Amino acid sequence: MAFDCINHEYYLLKGDKILALIRKIFHKYPEFRHDSFKNFARFARLYGGRLDLSPKLKRVIKFPDHSNSLYLGCPIILAAGANKTAKRISDYANVGFGGVTVGTATRRFREGNTHRPRIGFLEDERAMHNSMGLNNEGVEVISARVDEQLTRAHKCGMCVGISVAETPGLTHEAEKLKDLLESFAIAYKAGDYIEINVSCPNTGEDRIDLDSHFTELVFSEIMKQRSSQGPRKAVYAKLSPDMSEKQLMHIMDILVRYGVNGVVLGNTFPSAKIGALPMQKCIEDLAVLRNDGDRGGISGRPLYENMFWMVSYIKKNYPNMSVMACGGIDHGYKIYDLLKLGVDAVQCYSVVAFRWMAAHSMRKELLQALREDGFNSLNDYLEREK
Ligand SMILES: Cc1cc2nc3c(=O)[nH]c(=O)nc-3n(C[C@H](O)[C@H](O)[C@H](O)COP(=O)(O)O)c2cc1C
Repeated sequence: MAFDCINHEYYLLKGDKILALIRKIFHKYPEFRHDSFKNFARFARLYGGRLDLSPKLKRVIKFPDHSNSLYLGCPIILAAGANKTAKRISDYANVGFGGVTVGTATRRFREGNTHRPRIGFLEDERAMHNSMGLNNEGVEVISARVDEQLTRAHKCGMCVGISVAETPGLTHEAEKLKDLLESFAIAYKAGDYIEINVSCPNTGEDRIDLDSHFTELVFSEIMKQRSSQGPRKAVYAKLSPDMSEKQLMHIMDILVRYGVNGVVLGNTFPSAKIGALPMQKCIEDLAVLRNDGDRGGISGRPLYENMFWMVSYIKKNYPNMSVMACGGIDHGYKIYDLLKLGVDAVQCYSVVAFRWMAAHSMRKELLQALREDGFNSLNDYLEREK
């Protein structure tokens, strides 16, 4: 079934205007401004945030290969990068999320890119660009925190994934593979699902997803390692949204061949290709975010249409592949449209900088969209679609 892609618009409410004011006041400190989301989540109850355990938007993702199902309080997951530390995971339930992917984690601590700023806001476009460069405390620390908090997170209706990536700077293929497999093994013990980030555009390294030989090696070894484990946890590949149809088809064929459960589509969109996005800004308008002069990857509203078509393509040609859509999702109606395409859940991040209690607002809109079509709950809709 074909669907139109509508980049649904939301009205700016009082809270969104407060956020705009905060962005303006702290415009010289974009990283601080962005990082403060964790504090917003921590104290959310003071300004109306709350845990919503109502069953209306509950989502269970089941896998044809009988990997452990994922239980989400709602199909809205906070995307990787927002909680890089894996601290205080349950706070994000108070701001409306039904899951979180923590990380991205690498094998050991990384400071990330040394250039400042590493984030820029594109106010008119409701977008951002960033080049953090995978700053994180290392997969052992992050996984241990997930392990400690997982039961509590589940009680709050949250599913927790861990994103891992190869450590930038390694040169030999065998060394890279070993590094990523070690990170995978450590994260696998703790997370509900594991996301392999093969598409980070911000480290100055070649992306794995552009090297089909290495992509094949990575996923064949990861899935081999998984089959030697007791519990079968879902493995997702996080792909880049800038791929051509041919590249996408090629990588999807590899993922299917090795039994990868799903894809997160996608990561930030390389700023160097900004011309491919529906944006007023051009590359010269963006601040340099990395020592080599690069301007990072774009996220937010302008990514939506491109992501929508890529997701449609995947669901049409690889219907058994679980898809978590990610890129410019900022409205509950968009989530409903994506669910109609067959995605299992959505992930989002940039919207939290632009919409007050973004996930709670999107929950309300999603419920409204379901009601308009005569459904009382997400489950009602899914049952009817079977
Ligand atoms: C500041 C920032 C840091 C990010 N860090 C990561 C990361 O560490 N790993 C990852 O897979 N994606 C990372 N992302 C990408 C997001 O997870 C997401 O794929 C992207 O922002 C598109 O979604 P959005 O339009 O809802 O923001 C980051 C994005 C931003 C804005």
